[in-house]
Amino acid sequence: MKPVEIAKGIYSVGVRDWNIRDFHGYATDQGTTYNAFLIVDEKVALIDTVKNKKQFTQQLIDNIATIIDPKKIDIVISNHTEMDHSGGLPHVMHYIGEDKPLYCSKMGKKNLAKHFSREWNFHAVNNGEELSLGEKTLVFLETRMIHWPDSMFTFAKEDGVLFSSDGFGQHYAGYELFDDEVGDKIMYQAKNYFANILMLYAPRIKKLIKGVVDLGLEIKMICPDHGIIWRKDPAKIINAYNAWCDQTPKRKALVVYDTMWESTEKMAEAIVDGLIEENVITKLMHVRSCHRSDVITEMLDTRAVIMGSPTLNNQMFPSLMDTITYIKGLKPINKIAAAFGSYGWSGEAVKYINKEFEAMKFEIVDPGIRVQYVPTPDDLKNCFQLGAKMGKLVNES
Ligand code: FEO
Repeated sequence: MKPVEIAKGIYSVGVRDWNIRDFHGYATDQGTTYNAFLIVDEKVALIDTVKNKKQFTQQLIDNIATIIDPKKIDIVISNHTEMDHSGGLPHVMHYIGEDKPLYCSKMGKKNLAKHFSREWNFHAVNNGEELSLGEKTLVFLETRMIHWPDSMFTFAKEDGVLFSSDGFGQHYAGYELFDDEVGDKIMYQAKNYFANILMLYAPRIKKLIKGVVDLGLEIKMICPDHGIIWRKDPAKIINAYNAWCDQTPKRKALVVYDTMWESTEKMAEAIVDGLIEENVITKLMHVRSCHRSDVITEMLDTRAVIMGSPTLNNQMFPSLMDTITYIKGLKPINKIAAAFGSYGWSGEAVKYINKEFEAMKFEIVDPGIRVQYVPTPDDLKNCFQLGAKMGKLVNES
C-alpha cells in the first residue's frame, strides 16, 4: 500500500492483505488491511505495526523509508497487542533500535511482554495522558475490550485525528483509502466487523464511545487499523456503532437451517413464505452455504430467529451446532425464537435447538415443529403458520 499523507505530517504506512479469506474463523471475502501510521514532527512516532509476515513487516519498513529513514523513529505506540497489529514489532524494534520507547496501555505492557518475552523500553500510559511530539500532542485513551483488555485509542489533538485500533474497522482491502472514495458499501463491512469482533462487548463499547465523545474532542478523522479511514463524516460510523451496540431489531426474521434429504429445507421454505406473507424482511441461510460470520451479521438487527435441523444420530446437525457455538459467544440480544426439523425415528434436534435458545436467552415463542421423514401438505401448512405467527410477533414488537 503506497504511503499517503492523510493530514499534515501524518502518513498511512500500513499494508493490504488482499487474499486473506479466514481471519481467525471469520470469513473475510474482501481481504483486510493492517493499517499503521507515521507522525513526523520534532519527534517521529509510529502508531501500530502490521501482521507478522515477512513480506508485510518489510513493506511497512519500506513504506516508512519513502518518508524518512525508519531509524529516525523516536517513539513506537502500540494501541493493541493482538498479533495483526503487534506482530511486526520485533522486526521494527530491532530495525529502529530496541531501546526506543514503546508506549502502550498498562495492560498492553503486560500483554506485549507475554507475547514477545522482550524487555523493551515500555512506557505504560494512564488514561488521558498526553505526549508532545513538538507541534503535535498525542492523547492516550484507554478503551478496554475494543477489542482486548489492552486496547487504547491515540488522539492527535491539533489535527483531530483519532487512531482507533480495532474500533470502527472493517475487513476490507480495496484500492480506496477513505470513506468518501468507497461509498456506502463499506457500511456492510463495518457492520460485519462489529458483529464478528466486537458485538459481545456491546454494552461496554457503548459506554466507552460515550466517554470518548463526552470529552468533546474535535474528531475530524478516524483511522482504524483495518480498512478505510473515516474522513468525510466520522460521526456516521460513531452513530452506527451506537445503534449496533443497542442491537435494536428491525422488522426482520432469519431462518437458519441445515438439511439432509431436503425435508427440513421444505419446512424452512414454508416458514419463509409465512414470514413474507406478513411483510417481514426475511433471510434464509443454509449453514453449509452461508458462513457463520455472515449469519451473525444478519442476526445483529434481526428480531425473529428460526432455526431448523434434521436429527442425525440423536443430535442436531453438527454444522448447525457450529454456527450456534459461534453465535452464542457473540451474545446477540432482543430475539424471539422457534425451532423446526425433520427426523426419522427419534427426533431430538428441535429439543436441543430450544436448549441452545434458552442458553442464549432468546425468547422461545413456539415449542417448534417436528416432522417425521417427509413433510405432508398439512405439515407445510403448519410451517407456513409458524412463519406467519413469527411475522406477526415481529410486527407487533
Ligand atoms: Fe485487529 Fe483485535 O485485532
